[in-house]
Amino acid sequence: MIALAVRTTQVFDEPKPERGFMYMVRELHEELFAGLPGQLFLGVMGGLFVVAIISGAVVYGPFMRKLDFGTIRRDKTRHLKWLDLHNLLGIVTLTWAFVVGVTGVMNTLAQPLFSLWRADHLPRLLAPYQGKPLPARLHSVHGIVDTARQALPDTEVVSVVFPWVAMCGHVLVKPVVTTPATQHRRPLVMPDASPLIGLFMPHPTASTSFTAPDLLHCLEIRRSVKPAALSEPGPNPDELRRLLTVASRVPDHGALVPWRFILFQGDARQAASAQPAAAYLAQHPELSEQTMGTFARLSRLFPQAPLVVAVVSRADPSDRKPEWEQVLTAGTVCMNLITAATALGYASVWLTGWAAYNVAALAALGVRAEEKVAGFIHIGTAKERPPDRSRPDPDDLVTEWTAK
Ligand SMILES: Cc1cc2nc3c(=O)[nH]c(=O)nc-3n(C[C@H](O)[C@H](O)[C@H](O)COP(=O)(O)O)c2cc1C
Repeated sequence: MIALAVRTTQVFDEPKPERGFMYMVRELHEELFAGLPGQLFLGVMGGLFVVAIISGAVVYGPFMRKLDFGTIRRDKTRHLKWLDLHNLLGIVTLTWAFVVGVTGVMNTLAQPLFSLWRADHLPRLLAPYQGKPLPARLHSVHGIVDTARQALPDTEVVSVVFPWVAMCGHVLVKPVVTTPATQHRRPLVMPDASPLIGLFMPHPTASTSFTAPDLLHCLEIRRSVKPAALSEPGPNPDELRRLLTVASRVPDHGALVPWRFILFQGDARQAASAQPAAAYLAQHPELSEQTMGTFARLSRLFPQAPLVVAVVSRADPSDRKPEWEQVLTAGTVCMNLITAATALGYASVWLTGWAAYNVAALAALGVRAEEKVAGFIHIGTAKERPPDRSRPDPDDLVTEWTAK
């Protein structure tokens, strides 16, 4: 077992396999230091042991039928009394030996059967992925467990079982779930096994993926990715709902909810882009290089990323809380949306541009006259990881207040 820090993925503890006395006993018990042949030998011997017990019970059972089970004839001779006692102890011991024998066979053969499953079933499961390049978006174990939880909301993931051998970079994860009603353990069955094929990413920073097992690390490596570098897949409907829920979980003075969302996805993205582009052309009929460039950019404002969320600020200056604070809240909604998308493994960028400030374009996009666009948040899967830009040094931004 390896102990990892959840937030930093730092390896705390990686115990060396023990080779002491208990290890010797276990090896002897499991495989006679002979590996697979030892396991099979012990399994077969255990099986014979169980067969011997059953056949013994079958052969000697009829002799015991003359008396009720467990009878000890105390009033007869000393010899008969001890014989009955012997038989009673014998059947109890036999039952115990039977249980030990059966569980021993199961334990001993579990490992070879698991290896057989791994050699036979696993390659077939992974066949569609063989020889293919690594997908752009990798899954963290957390993500896979989340997928399992979403697939079976009435269950609880109690363990993630790795088949020990990573095959072509893939690690099969088999969550075992238990239903609270019955506490009955059963392996997770999903219509499509592919979401359960996770990819391990030991060094997330070296990868093009933005998925990382902990949020702080996600934020440390987050970069905006331009819409042209965003591709499918985008968030599915469940993920989108989660994103908007997290985006809406923001500090909000007076709980005014001074924001709303407009979604641009699917085929509607192209039609939506045509609106501000047409508005721009109507206002800039001169065909200069610059106007044509802006027109072209507006025409592909929405279709590039799989999902664009317009965060609309609906701050009301006449409300009981300052308008400035309401505007700030809409800003935090944008950032929460980006952070949540990052945590889900998606890349994003916060854009505004001409369409966000033009009255005709805004009206065509469904933004009311009293509202403003806080940002168009473009979300999708990063085709590439852009190089980082220089970041402000917090030391340059900080002064510490001290009493004069
Ligand atoms: C309110 C707001 C509007 C923005 N609008 C644009 C924009 O229209 N075009 C653009 O290139 N970047 C825009 N940005 C900047 C990008 O979102 C992003 O911050 C920048 O590309 C730097 O990337 P980084 O997030 O990796 O630091 C905007 C940022 C904010 C906060």
